[in-house]
Amino acid sequence: MHVIAGTASTSLAERISRELGNVPFGLPFLKRFPDGELYVRIGGQLSGEDVVLVQSTRNDQDLLELLLLEDAVRQSGARRLIVVVPYFGYARQDQVFFPGEPASAQALAQHIALEADAVVSVDLHSGHTLKAFTKPAFEASGIPAIARLLRQRPVDLLVSPDKGGTDRARRMGQLLDRPWVALEKHRIDSEHVELELPNSVPIALEGKHVVIVDDVISTGGTIVEAARLLAKQRVGAITASCTHGLFLRDAFERIKAVTDEIFSTDTLANPAEKASVAPDIAQIVKRHLADSPLG
Ligand code: R5P
Repeated sequence: MHVIAGTASTSLAERISRELGNVPFGLPFLKRFPDGELYVRIGGQLSGEDVVLVQSTRNDQDLLELLLLEDAVRQSGARRLIVVVPYFGYARQDQVFFPGEPASAQALAQHIALEADAVVSVDLHSGHTLKAFTKPAFEASGIPAIARLLRQRPVDLLVSPDKGGTDRARRMGQLLDRPWVALEKHRIDSEHVELELPNSVPIALEGKHVVIVDDVISTGGTIVEAARLLAKQRVGAITASCTHGLFLRDAFERIKAVTDEIFSTDTLANPAEKASVAPDIAQIVKRHLADSPLG
């Protein structure tokens, strides 16, 4: 087996190769042609091998690189190709909201799946995107990775910034044996939200260590508002945590100013990347390869 890293996921890919038993790990050669087109080339003897290709798709460039790398793996005669997309971009446009729009998440999932034998992603924005991959597709969760890190700290309450994240906070609460609560969120625009505490909160907040649990931090608007609301309740410490840390523009600094710690998993490279999803992804890859007969 070989693990190949796209440029968006080099560290995580290396960790996955270690979790898979120190299998060979490769970084492709990339360059731009004079007209700006991307050139990729993978090394190593891949003929007859199982290949795990790891690339998050933060932007269009990452996506193009992934599609070219998938074809390069196929051209090299690999036996099975497992494509790992730790952060799957375009996930929020998961349906046609207005006439004339694409269902971007489904469209890109189909293209990524074309050359793959199986796909693995982490905390997809919407559960039904998994079905769009048209090949066996698996979703890992970032929650166990964050929980492994939080086990070493005194945590009193898990907080989801919105009702949509209720299951995440509940699951983290179960793993840490702590109570959880979901805030009421009203989105004003793409960067601003209003948050309120629900009528009932399971513990008195004053002096407590609360951990905000989210799937993605983009502009930071949600976490900053959640931290402000909790600070008004005179909590003792606030940790912000997420699976996917995009931290657009000055989001990291703005969150740092209102929290005590920031944790994200390593689905995206960022300064808060302290919990690794490599063991969770490697487990899915191993199980799938063991379960799927060779064609
Ligand atoms: C919302 O549905 C998500 O769970 C996140 O809370 C949201 O995407 C975070 O975005 P931002 O950091 O821009 O507030």
